[in-house]
Amino acid sequence: MSFPFAAQPVLITGASSGIGFACAQTLVQAGARHLLITGRDADKLVTAQAQLQQQGARVDVCVCDQSLRDDVERLLAFLDANGWPAAFIANVGVNPVHEHGPKKLHSIDVDLLDQVIATNITHTVLLLSRILKAMRVQRSGSIVLMGSQAWQHGITGQALYNLCKSSLTGLKNSVVSEYGGSGIFCHLLSPGVVLNERTRRLRQHHPALEQQQGVTEAEVASAALQLLCIQDAARNGQDIAV
Ligand SMILES: NC(=O)c1ccc[n+]([C@@H]2O[C@H](COP(=O)([O-])OP(=O)(O)OC[C@H]3O[C@@H](n4cnc5c(N)ncnc54)[C@H](OP(=O)(O)O)[C@@H]3O)[C@@H](O)[C@H]2O)c1
Repeated sequence: MSFPFAAQPVLITGASSGIGFACAQTLVQAGARHLLITGRDADKLVTAQAQLQQQGARVDVCVCDQSLRDDVERLLAFLDANGWPAAFIANVGVNPVHEHGPKKLHSIDVDLLDQVIATNITHTVLLLSRILKAMRVQRSGSIVLMGSQAWQHGITGQALYNLCKSSLTGLKNSVVSEYGGSGIFCHLLSPGVVLNERTRRLRQHHPALEQQQGVTEAEVASAALQLLCIQDAARNGQDIAV
């Protein structure tokens, strides 16, 4: 599959490991020549950068903890300096269950609520907003929002994650309504249980999850690539489950 934004910058947030890194590898294999990647840990980012550059791409990295407004502002300045992306995979999405364990709604901590919403929603929308501004000028661009199937099942103990991921449907539809006529595409990609580090502990406790529904990071990345390649206006706003 030939990648339509091969010569332009592509931003993937949370791409030093996991699904984001798999997306970066897949895009480079498809011909992407300039990636911008983010993560919290500078060492991990540099390692990822070296691996991707070995495959022949220019890779610029920016340390950005997406829970922090100052970091996101720094990322915006970095984009201004290195080139606004023609394609964007909004991949960062924290689930406090992994760090704090399951918590039902009656026991949710309001500071954690603020932090999860800042990371997954407020700062995703802030980034998206500024990137759309640049894409509008170019009258071109493609965006993939990384969703999840978890909220559709209302999985217990992770209401914060469920509410963040469910909101991406409205965000995607709004981008398509407001910018679809300006040559800008936006799609939602919703993986099930991905067989990776993030879900390792979960899968150990629930082996059936892996056997029945598991997908690989490479399969998610391949779906992201296919979505970014869509150039047919009639197919804008795809909502894909993998
Ligand atoms: N794994 C699944 O089963 C699954 C299923 C459905 C949807 N998803 C979605 O897929 C996306 C990626 O998930 P993943 O499975 O690859 O695991 P992940 O652990 O969320 O992703 C790892 C990457 O995200 C970065 N990252 C984590 N928190 C960050 C933050 N606050 N700010 C900036 N970067 C951050 C990590 O960098 P550092 O290591 O430097 O922090 C690393 O590069 C998420 O949106 C997730 O909700 C995952």
